[in-house]
Amino acid sequence: MSERVEKVLASFAERYGDATGVTVVRAPGRVNIIGEHTDYNGGFVMPIAIERDIMIACRPNGSMQVDLYSVDFGESNGFSLDNIRFNQSCQWVNYPQGVAHCLLEKGFDLKGFDGVVQGNVPLASGLSSSAACEVASALAFKAMSGFDIGDTDLALLCQRAENTFVGVNCGIMDQYVSVFAQPGCAVFLDCKDLRHEDVPLGTKEATFVVCNTMVKRELSGSEYNTRRQQCEEAAKAMDAALLRDVSPETFEAECGKLPEDVRKRARHVISEDERTLRAVAAFKAGDLAAAGKEMNDSHDSLRDDYEVSCRELDIMVDIARGLPGTYGARMTGAGFGGCTVNLVAADKADAFCAEIAKRYKAETGLNPMVLSTEPCGGAGRVETR
Ligand code: GLA
Repeated sequence: MSERVEKVLASFAERYGDATGVTVVRAPGRVNIIGEHTDYNGGFVMPIAIERDIMIACRPNGSMQVDLYSVDFGESNGFSLDNIRFNQSCQWVNYPQGVAHCLLEKGFDLKGFDGVVQGNVPLASGLSSSAACEVASALAFKAMSGFDIGDTDLALLCQRAENTFVGVNCGIMDQYVSVFAQPGCAVFLDCKDLRHEDVPLGTKEATFVVCNTMVKRELSGSEYNTRRQQCEEAAKAMDAALLRDVSPETFEAECGKLPEDVRKRARHVISEDERTLRAVAAFKAGDLAAAGKEMNDSHDSLRDDYEVSCRELDIMVDIARGLPGTYGARMTGAGFGGCTVNLVAADKADAFCAEIAKRYKAETGLNPMVLSTEPCGGAGRVETR
């Protein structure tokens, strides 16, 4: 049993008297290697689950009440399964509430429980702490109430909770990878038919380094929705249901009809799908230089055409590209702050981490969080003995 699990159980015992019969579930955050802003266009993504997750220790309490304590916020909150309402004053409780709401809507019979929530996914950094919290909550309800739900349905239900209850209009990528990731592999997902392939990345030659700019995404909600609308407008103008269905050739022939900003957004999405396919092929062939080039091009397209980067992300990427051993560097996630993801030669990774932190601090005055991660496994129950 890991030290973290022991602590979560100790915290449960402290709050609820003892920890007998407690189940612990976990769900990881993610970093997207390539395929950005493509999921809601029915396109391709290639995220990995990271070594950071959210855990919930839970035990049925024989009532309709869900009583939760967040170790990280040092705060307890709860809700009755008979009366679920958005909580304006406590944001974190809305994730389990949203999941419960959507499960009840689907007709699942839910039971109340006592729970302790603890996580180490940095919040509001583009590493999907929200999806991790939703998936962990869904697993907690599943374990406590004893119903059955398929993995794809579980991921879709968590996305629905985020869209309809929390109010963020995200795609399926984050919840999907949190559920399905396999250790050592990226999840290469086709967001149109929701089929995926595990792409082994367990190469000893390179590692993924995540760099947090420490800038928060204040603009991201409204800008994210605007981008989605622009993509829908572009697809409609080219007679397609989704931008995924527009080939690069059709786009070249038809893009003259689109207003300039809409044209740029569509060009990013259509070219990003192509880059993702090429990157997957390159990773499979072990050609890290080619994979890294696609990551670099992805960033440039997000910066220039999709316009979701920001000064700090660009600085972090520029520094990374100048360091020895960097194959590729790009922003990851929705943008407007958050993290970059870097593909770095394994024997240069330590020097990379030290140097990028130093140079970023010198240029921006901000202390970045730098994390080297292997691709990890997806959500599930945690061994407690
Ligand atoms: C956020 C959303 C995802 C995806 C990315 C951009 O992380 O939650 O669904 O759209 O932005 O690729």
